[in-house]
Amino acid sequence: MNTQNTGIVAEAHAVENQLATKESSGAESYFSVKNLNAYYGDSYIVQDISFDIAEGQIVALLGRNGAGKSSTLRAIARADEPELRSGEIYLCGTTLHDKKDFEAALAGVQLVPEDRRIIPGLSVEENLDLARIDGEPGWDYERIYDLFPRLKERRKQEGITLSGGEQQMLAIGRALARDIKLLLLDEPYEGLAPVVRHDIERALLEVKNDGITTILVEQNAVAALKLADRALILDTGEIAFRGSAQEVLDNEQLRHDYLAI
Ligand SMILES: Nc1ncnc2c1ncn2[C@@H]1O[C@H](COP(=O)(O)OP(=O)(O)O)[C@@H](O)[C@H]1O
Ligand SMILES: [Mg+2]
Repeated sequence: MNTQNTGIVAEAHAVENQLATKESSGAESYFSVKNLNAYYGDSYIVQDISFDIAEGQIVALLGRNGAGKSSTLRAIARADEPELRSGEIYLCGTTLHDKKDFEAALAGVQLVPEDRRIIPGLSVEENLDLARIDGEPGWDYERIYDLFPRLKERRKQEGITLSGGEQQMLAIGRALARDIKLLLLDEPYEGLAPVVRHDIERALLEVKNDGITTILVEQNAVAALKLADRALILDTGEIAFRGSAQEVLDNEQLRHDYLAI
């Protein structure tokens, strides 16, 4: 980045951060995180991250490999690692920073991790059944199968024998089987052919139409930005940019500096 640009970008960040601080006094936003700091042992990874999301929005959380995207999602879902040492997380006025992972799940947070975690030995439908055991039921199966007809065709098949794309559909379907408010998707398009990715993109728009709020982490930034309302870019554990998805698509310098696209 040239120095002139660095100056402009830094100034823009300062203004954005001021706005973010003003906007986020916590409880009144649909979802907000304030000054999150999370560690793996001594490694300081999630560095003072604050942002808000309006109800029903899709936010693309972007940044290079190792920028801290997965760690941020895990901190929000209250996974044991990384350890959240300070900061606040609010979902619909409920605090999550003082909760365990299962309590965050009961409050309506669902992380779909990169490796999808389909349960071996269970059919597609049994994977959905298992998701429903805890908490309030969400979408009924017919609705999930309308969203992903391939899952209906394969509902008696063992989940781990599905293709990568179908396993991603099952992982998302399983999230929707519970009554969720915030969906955290970690690289859902990874390894998928464009045609399968399009099926998932279409499904994510339907999920948005249902009012569910989504944080979408993707290496395929252009695909994520096409779907997203807002964008956050992480760089070495800090927020380097926040703005509309369109701003990122339009700003070649920004994409070059932080996304290598
Ligand atoms: N379990 C872990 N223990 C220690 N360090 C980790 C662990 N997981 C990730 N990290 C480190 O945290 C940083 C951010 O990783 P991650 O959140 O996975 O980035 P991203 O998802 O943006 O690629 C990286 O430097 C990574 O090496
Ligand atoms: Mg990651």
